Amino acid sequence: MTSLGFIGLGTMGQPMALNLRRAGHPLTVFARNIQRAEPLVRAGAHAAMTPRGVAEAADIVFVNVADDAALDVVLFGAEGAAEGLAEDAVVVDMGTTSPAATRDFSARLAQRGAHLLDAPVSGGEAGAKSGTLSIMVGGPEAPYRRVLPLFQVLGDSIVHVGGTGAGQVAKACNQIAVSATLLGVAEALDFAARQGVDPGHVRQALLGGSAYSRILEIHGQRMLDRNFVPGFKARLHQKDLAIVLDEARRLGLALPGAALSAQLMNALVGAGGGEGDSSALIEVLESMNGSRP
Ligand SMILES: NC(=O)c1ccc[n+]([C@@H]2O[C@H](COP(=O)([O-])OP(=O)(O)OC[C@H]3O[C@@H](n4cnc5c(N)ncnc54)[C@H](OP(=O)(O)O)[C@@H]3O)[C@@H](O)[C@H]2O)c1
Repeated sequence: MTSLGFIGLGTMGQPMALNLRRAGHPLTVFARNIQRAEPLVRAGAHAAMTPRGVAEAADIVFVNVADDAALDVVLFGAEGAAEGLAEDAVVVDMGTTSPAATRDFSARLAQRGAHLLDAPVSGGEAGAKSGTLSIMVGGPEAPYRRVLPLFQVLGDSIVHVGGTGAGQVAKACNQIAVSATLLGVAEALDFAARQGVDPGHVRQALLGGSAYSRILEIHGQRMLDRNFVPGFKARLHQKDLAIVLDEARRLGLALPGAALSAQLMNALVGAGGGEGDSSALIEVLESMNGSRP
């Protein structure tokens, strides 16, 4: 079986790596925080001391770290994966990074004879654990074909969107739509409460109609429960909206909904909520409206 590597064992990376291991693949992992590798080692994976060590042991290297800067470090920093990649190896970036950085990293890996696929995901921690992620892939056809059976372990919707960077463009589109929906759900629940109507009953009523969304279902429930254990950290949501707005500025494109969501997400992070789930956005709104208990 193909030898795999996995770098970055956070909220998303750890369950994804476990699913690949459980599918029977030889797996070498690297986590900056070594404790995050323990469940993988118990499942039979090998823990490398550096990203380079992962690349030396694997034909296909998955990476799921926070952002462009982290990806740069694990690929091209000291003891980075790029130094250990074999000719024709494939690096699969499953985090949410910028299309511009993706194209740059792809060109630098190509100089070493390796390929990059950008393959960000939607579906959250629950989707990562259950292997039901939506995976949006950018990059050339031949490496995509090699990795497809592994994507099928991780997700149940896999779309090859286009060339290098197209997966990250699709993910930016996902975040434009998701952010507007998250804000809409927060506004609806605050409105219900201020009307003196039970927001939980309102959510229940809306789930059966045109306002249904996964965001209303999952994040709406989080808002009701005040459960802001991540999930999806607000600082990562803030980072995604920064990618969206950087690209929009470059294109001369107005995205008023995304810009408003970004401002409110800035406020959530600024108020100390960066490590909590981004559904705590409702508390920013409640503070503005004087609705907070
Ligand atoms: N959570 C979600 O619902 C979700 C959904 C879709 C997409 N994503 C995207 O997936 C990516 C990972 O998200 P996550 O929720 O798993 O975040 P996370 O729990 O914060 O995990 C990020 C991982 O990146 C590692 N990392 C950061 N900087 C690093 C560096 N310089 N060198 C090595 N490792 C580094 C962290 O290591 P440490 O543990 O040592 O800090 C951590 O393991 C992000 O791009 C995010 O936007 C997340």
